[in-house]
Amino acid sequence: EKDLGADLAKVLITEEQLQAKVRELAAQVDADYAGKDLLLVGVLKGAVMIMADLARAMRSPVSMDWMAVSSYGSGTKSSGVVRILKDLDADIMNRHVLIVEDIIDSGLTLSWLVSNLRSRGPASLEICALLRKPEAVKTEVDVRYVGFDIPNEFVVGYGLDYAEKYRNLPFVGTLAPHVYGGESA
Ligand code: PRP
Ligand code: MN
Ligand code: MG
Repeated sequence: EKDLGADLAKVLITEEQLQAKVRELAAQVDADYAGKDLLLVGVLKGAVMIMADLARAMRSPVSMDWMAVSSYGSGTKSSGVVRILKDLDADIMNRHVLIVEDIIDSGLTLSWLVSNLRSRGPASLEICALLRKPEAVKTEVDVRYVGFDIPNEFVVGYGLDYAEKYRNLPFVGTLAPHVYGGESA
């Protein structure tokens, strides 16, 4: 039997730290959107965990919708050209929209998404990202809510994958080198 723990190099953010931060973010969002009808837009698939936990930690009733996008590019490098695999069900014209993302790495996905959604005429459009990497500060994207600024390491867990695995970890960690097929896999 394969143990998830054996694939990990270290835990970067514990389950407790994640849950405390999610409660903090939810309280901020609740306060900022008090009296307003809010639509949370989760970006599949990475944002599934943060979306579910953030929404559950909120006190006000919100709507939830999902988008799936795929960025064209060679291998792991994102090109900034994005394709919609699943569009929103909702019409966001005149609505208050909060994009929920697990991580901003290069920022290319979000900058494309923001201009795409902005063109649909929402009443407001903001971003909540659980994690942000250093590269992201170079992009123009203005992120209203950020959970953690993390170092430029490949992280998995709590929605984030490596080759579609490890999304189910309840914490955020880095992978052991043997997982990448590097040394003695
Ligand atoms: C990951 C992550 C963000 C995006 C960030 O998604 O969940 O959506 O990349 O990268 P960027 O800032 O460099 O654009 P991915 O495309 O791997 O799809 P997934 O959410 O299904 O894992
Ligand atoms: Mn994603
Ligand atoms: Mg991914």
